Amino acid sequence: MRIAFFSAKSYDRQFFELANEDRRHQLVFFEDPLNADTAILAHDCPAVCIFVNDRAEGETLEILARQGTRLLALRCAGFNHVDLKQAQALGVKVARVPAYSPYAVAEHAAGLVLALNRKLYRAYNRVRDDNFSLDGLLGFDLYGATVGVVGTGKIGLAFARIMQGFGCRVLGYDAFPNDAFKALPQASYVSLEDLLAQSDIISLHCPLLPETHYLINAETIAQMKPGAMLINTSRGRLIDTSAAIAGIKSGQIGYLGIDVYEQEDELFFEDHSDSIIQDDTFQLLQSFPNVFITAHQGFFTRNALTEIAAATLANATEFEKGQPLTREVILS
Ligand code: NAI
Repeated sequence: MRIAFFSAKSYDRQFFELANEDRRHQLVFFEDPLNADTAILAHDCPAVCIFVNDRAEGETLEILARQGTRLLALRCAGFNHVDLKQAQALGVKVARVPAYSPYAVAEHAAGLVLALNRKLYRAYNRVRDDNFSLDGLLGFDLYGATVGVVGTGKIGLAFARIMQGFGCRVLGYDAFPNDAFKALPQASYVSLEDLLAQSDIISLHCPLLPETHYLINAETIAQMKPGAMLINTSRGRLIDTSAAIAGIKSGQIGYLGIDVYEQEDELFFEDHSDSIIQDDTFQLLQSFPNVFITAHQGFFTRNALTEIAAATLANATEFEKGQPLTREVILS
């Protein structure tokens, strides 16, 4: 089957061509993001493969459906960038990769914790500049710290286990508590209020849904322990960035580590080093010494990309054979 890939990078081509060794599918890669202007590129493709910042909705989705696309294969776990209702009405099925390597994202979240706590990014630059002073690099022991995990699914659980390895006490909050988290030694479910009030480190691992949009806002920031560390490797819109900036300025948020940002589709995955960034909020955020930002790279490991490519092509094969889609996103 002919599959059009949007927002395709060299690494997408590399891992998908490897996974398509038997040449079952015809893969066509476009660097452009999917939108109403670029949808025409998929005119002869029954399947379209998109990533996190390609929006499949409105006119774009109509054009795809009109051209004969019947499968939207998301090469990611989240599906907040697809209008599922419209897709269903247009007869376009949506499949995703619900689980690849939860460790990739969980380990990256732990990396953000260490980078911020021990100020590794500042230390690295200092040493390169032959500045061996320790002033300003003071951290704290993770051993004995309380870590709050919001969303205790696959990634949240993997993150909780890593933090337990450091000797942290783990608190969890989830709208749908699960047995795997309950079975962790020395971990317990609490209300969101208690998690915010007791945690030295809060890490977000729930999906972006209408009920989780701006879960972290002025009110919930005020409920946090003063000086707490906030980590977000899930989706940018879980945090009201303006409220987070106010929290950083007041000292209520002591550290902020993010791999996702609410306006990231304007910035991430591209090289803007030669241009003037117009997003003042992002630039202000970057200016704080206790903020550490990575550009949505939590998923970016060899292991995860191999699994993403295999599962995405398996979705396409199931669709082509008319089989039920194991990883279909069903409108709830
Ligand atoms: P999952 O579905 O296994 O876990 C999500 C958990 O959130 C579930 O336990 C669910 O019950 C819980 N949840 C749902 N609604 C909630 C609410 N209102 N409040 C609190 N918890 C709620 O998903 P997984 O694989 O752990 O992924 C989590 C998120 O991580 C994804 O939704 C995605 O946004 C993000 N992600 C980020 C990546 C990156 O590269 N930075 C890569 C992959 C995923």
